[in-house]
Amino acid sequence: MRHLSVPSDQTQVWLERCKANGWLGGSGVLSLDEGRRGVPLNDNAPAGEDACWEGLDHIDAPPRENGPRHWRERLPGELQTLPDSFWPSSYEVQGDVLLVKLEEEVRPHASAMAKAMMEQMPSVRIVCADEGVQGDFRVRDLRPIASRDGSQHTTTAVREHEFTIHVDPGEVYYSARLSKQRLNTYESLQGFRERLGSPLVVADPYAGVGPAFPLLLKHEGLVSGYLAGDLNPKAVELLTKNLESWTRKSPTTFSPSTVVCKDARTWKEDEELRGKANVMLVNLPHDSFEHLPDLFPLFIPSELGLLRGWAIIERTSLDGRVAQLEGMVEAAGGTPTQTFVSEVKGFSTTRCFVVFQSTITWD
Ligand SMILES: C[S@@+](CC[C@H](N)C(=O)[O-])C[C@H]1O[C@@H](n2cnc3c(N)ncnc32)[C@H](O)[C@@H]1O
Repeated sequence: MRHLSVPSDQTQVWLERCKANGWLGGSGVLSLDEGRRGVPLNDNAPAGEDACWEGLDHIDAPPRENGPRHWRERLPGELQTLPDSFWPSSYEVQGDVLLVKLEEEVRPHASAMAKAMMEQMPSVRIVCADEGVQGDFRVRDLRPIASRDGSQHTTTAVREHEFTIHVDPGEVYYSARLSKQRLNTYESLQGFRERLGSPLVVADPYAGVGPAFPLLLKHEGLVSGYLAGDLNPKAVELLTKNLESWTRKSPTTFSPSTVVCKDARTWKEDEELRGKANVMLVNLPHDSFEHLPDLFPLFIPSELGLLRGWAIIERTSLDGRVAQLEGMVEAAGGTPTQTFVSEVKGFSTTRCFVVFQSTITWD
């Protein structure tokens, strides 16, 4: 059976691409030498020399047999006697990195568990214990438990809305859970662009690896320029790499096309950043509201602006938040309209996760 030989961190990307094009074969992904994976192809897949494969090799190999349906069935016999509820019921996969939270009693068996998981999921290169999010950069504390090829790094790539995003869950915040919000942002900006009558300059001072951008930049005529940044230098490295790959083939020459590693609250002191944006995204959920007064000077004066952000707030304060936001805009010299602060479903905590937005006329 024909398989596409891909580097392990590209497995998810190629699986999705082949699936979307109707080229994916019915068997599982093969584990090949030198950290490569074999993605099964069916007869509809173009010939090996086609440019769509971007130079990757094709190999002929027997299809992967159907094995156990769950990784628990691959545990050593003595551990299979433990009840299913003993083991983690969920985990997250980012590219070829699997992240799993471990209860205390599972820790002594972490290595056997990680090996079973890797055996079950050939696209996983490394299994890490996720010890939770830390510090201002909101980065997870990851402890590698097992690695297929001995590598310990967590740089990898994920697919979101048909785009490849370079991520590193051990160094930079990225959450697939917000992908729906990013679609909503894209829709909001299309409406705002119509209203403004010209392409937008978008500022995202808490951009992380930049997941808000690919949808916006791909849409010709929606965005004319961007200001992107983060305080975490590792985030800025990946953000730069991602923006380069998303804009490389664009017919638009984005201006500005600025990427900075700076505290967002100090952007206003920089001539290149102050007064340049039509749209501002504010994604620092624990502090978004507190940072807003320092961010308003980034909007272009005397033009219409769109503010959109996310915050984690006390549920009891939700009712007063529109008035608070409008008060902050007015204090900065703007007139807010169409302001909303709405709870985002699916984040079940005692506090609530909200998206806020306001269209601002700057006099
Ligand atoms: C919740 S994450 C959001 C990242 C990205 N927008 C996303 O949706 O994936 C917040 C980001 O803000 C960055 N950050 C924290 N404090 C900052 C500050 N004062 N100025 C700029 N960036 C900051 C963190 O490093 C982190 O990448």
